[in-house]
Amino acid sequence: MELIDTHAHLDEDAFGPDLPAVIARAEAAGLVGIITIGTTVASCRRAIELAETHPTVFAAIGIHPNYAAQAAPGDWEIIERLAEHPRVVGIGETGLDRYWDHTPIDVQQDYFRRHIALARHRDVPFIVHCRDAEADVAALLEETAAGGAHKGVMHSFCGTPETAARTLALGMHLSFSGMLTYKKNQAIRDAARAAPADRILVETDCPYLAPATVRGKRNEPAWVRETAEVLGQARGLSHDEAGTLTTDNARRLFALPV
Ligand code: NI
Repeated sequence: MELIDTHAHLDEDAFGPDLPAVIARAEAAGLVGIITIGTTVASCRRAIELAETHPTVFAAIGIHPNYAAQAAPGDWEIIERLAEHPRVVGIGETGLDRYWDHTPIDVQQDYFRRHIALARHRDVPFIVHCRDAEADVAALLEETAAGGAHKGVMHSFCGTPETAARTLALGMHLSFSGMLTYKKNQAIRDAARAAPADRILVETDCPYLAPATVRGKRNEPAWVRETAEVLGQARGLSHDEAGTLTTDNARRLFALPV
């Protein structure tokens, strides 16, 4: 089974001691690509370093909504410059978070719009974090889509059918994390079944959100396999078919040379 983990945080301290082994296990599990996501300028620099060092790793860079309030003057200009790097395949993660009150919502919206504009300028997808802010995220996406469809991802999708429909109508992809595998989350499996075949992706969001059989442990890219298998069950696909489908979608969306 070929797999791509479209959302990992490989630069986090949790992977400090054994990252080469983590990446080796991912490759042994069939992963041909891992997109590591930056959340601050420092984290984005590490993401790019990892992408320069490991052929299966690519970077997405941005300032996470929860860190936007602490961004220093000039940080955004650094992100714009780093976005020119050839191993950068996406912009984000960006989006809106009303669960944590780390950044005023108007600042989050301002950064969200900047990320969308930068992604459009670079012609790469943007990656959306959405927590307790579905209506606001959908509204901002609708407003900024004027005149064209978006190229982007609703990361770790766990929204309502309405949010799925509104964002899919704008051209967005839905990416499913280990949350899809938790018994109680039938609604997420329903969303994964209902979405168009060419708009679904899988991810780990590691080190967070380990899938059901390893829940609570430090998550890692190799474990995206379990999420792909459960997604396949939800759609009536074999494991291999689920891997091929989501991998082809990720390759196409992020234009990955793997
Ligand atoms: Ni993330």
